[in-house]
Amino acid sequence: MAGRAHSLDMTALFARRERDCYELYGRHGNEQLVRMLKTVGYDVGFCRSEGQYLFDRNGTRYLDLLSGFGVFAIGQNHPAVRAALRSVLDSDLPNLIQMDAPRLAAILADRLLKEVPYLDKAFFANSGGEAVEAAMKFGRASTGRPGIVYCDHAFHGVSYGALSINGGESFRSGFAPFLPDCIRIPFNDLSALENELIVGNVAAFIVEPIQGKGVNIPAVGYPQGAAELCRRYGALFIADEIQTGLGRTGRFLAVEHWNVEPDIVLIAKALSGGYVPVSAVLLRKRIFDKVYDSMDRAMVAVSTFAENNLAMAAGIATLEVLASERLVERAAKTGDRLMHAFSEMIPRYELVHEVRGKGMMIAIDFARPRSFKLRTEWDLIEAVREGLFGQVITIPLFADHKILCQVAGTNSHAVKFLPPLIISDADCEWIINSVEAVIAASHHVPGAAWSLGKTLVSNSLRI
Ligand SMILES: Cc1ncc(COP(=O)(O)O)c(C=O)c1O
Repeated sequence: MAGRAHSLDMTALFARRERDCYELYGRHGNEQLVRMLKTVGYDVGFCRSEGQYLFDRNGTRYLDLLSGFGVFAIGQNHPAVRAALRSVLDSDLPNLIQMDAPRLAAILADRLLKEVPYLDKAFFANSGGEAVEAAMKFGRASTGRPGIVYCDHAFHGVSYGALSINGGESFRSGFAPFLPDCIRIPFNDLSALENELIVGNVAAFIVEPIQGKGVNIPAVGYPQGAAELCRRYGALFIADEIQTGLGRTGRFLAVEHWNVEPDIVLIAKALSGGYVPVSAVLLRKRIFDKVYDSMDRAMVAVSTFAENNLAMAAGIATLEVLASERLVERAAKTGDRLMHAFSEMIPRYELVHEVRGKGMMIAIDFARPRSFKLRTEWDLIEAVREGLFGQVITIPLFADHKILCQVAGTNSHAVKFLPPLIISDADCEWIINSVEAVIAASHHVPGAAWSLGKTLVSNSLRI
C-alpha cells in the first residue's frame, strides 16, 4: 500500500529515475532521439523549470529560447495558470458531459473572439495538427470544393491531413500517399496562387503568416494580396497562427501586422499556458453553419477531450496573463531590441547573412563565406550534410553559454530563437553577448568552432 502511494508522488518518482532516464526512454521510446541528445551533449538531465529558465541535474541554469517549439510564451510553470488549474482540480466541476454545453469552453470562446472580433465561432481541439485537420474539413464542407492550396516550406503538422499540406519533404518521406487535391505553391508568389484559384475548385488557401520553418517573412503586399485573391475566387483564407499567434510576433495575431482578416484562424501552442494541450479554430459563422447545419449533425465533428475543463481553464488563464503582464507589447519591444542587436552583427561577421523575424520569432541566417579559409571549412562540413553549420552555433550556445535553441529547419543555415515573451533585459544581454561570442569564435580558423564542425562531420558519417 505504501509503495502504491509513493508511485503517485510524481516529484519523487521523477527524482528517483534521474540516473537511468535516458536509458529508460531510449529502451521504451525514441532511441534515435536519445542517441542524438548524447551526440550533441544535450543529455544534461533537466530537473526543474521556472519561467524562461531550465535547471539541469547540477542546478545549472539555462535560458530556454526554444520554448517547447513555441509553447511557453508566458514561460514555464506560470503561477497564475497553475492556480487556475488547481482551482479546477480542487473543485467538482462537471467535465466532458458531452450532452451539455461546456461552460468554460463558452467562456474561452467568448474571450478569444473578443481578440478577433471579425470572427464569430470557436471550435476547440487538442493539438495544432488537429486544428489544421478541422480547418481543412470546414473549408471543403463549406465551399463544396476539394482543393487545399498550401506553400512550399509550410509546416502545419504531421497527421495525415496536415502532412498532406506539409511543404517539407523530410516530414513526408515514407508516408505517401497523401490526401488528394492538395496543391503546393511557392511562398510569396501571388501569381502562383491566382493560377490555382482561377480554376475554381479551391476550397482554401492555408498559410503561416510567418513560416516557422526558416522564419520566412512575407513579401510586401503578400498577405493582403493573398486574402484579396481568395475573396475574389471564393476560396477561404486560413491563417495558421499556431506558432505566430498569441503575441509571439508582437501582435495578438501576426496577420494584424498586415491588417488582414482571415476567414479561419488557427491557434494552439501558447494557449495551453504550457500545461494542457489545447487548440482552437476561430471562424466565420457562415462556414461553421455549413458543417453543423442540422440537429442531426450537431455532433458531426467532435473530439472526445476537446473542451475538457483543464484545457479551457489553461486557455482562459493564459489570456489573462498575456493581458495583465502586457506580453504582446513586451514581445514587440524585446523583439526589436534583439533584432537590432543581431542585425548589427551582419557587417561585422561575414558568416552572418541575414536576420529575419518579427517580435519574438527571430532567425539569424548564415551563408557560405567569401574568405578562402572560412569557405574551405564551411564546404567541408556542408558537403557532408547541408545545414550542419547551424550546429556549430547551437551546440556552443548550449554547452558554453547555457542557451537552448535550434536550427530553423532541416537543411537550414538559420538559427532560430523563440524566447518566452517574458524575458528580461538581463536575459537579452545574456543572449546578445553569447550569440556574439559564438559567432566571433566561428570566424577563427583554426579554432574550437571548426574542430566541433569536424566532430559533427565524423558523427554524421557514422549515422
Ligand atoms: C504553424 C504550425 N502549425 C501546426 C503545427 C502542428 O502543431 P502540433 O504539433 O500541436 O500538432 C505546428 C507545430 O509546430 C506549427 O508550428
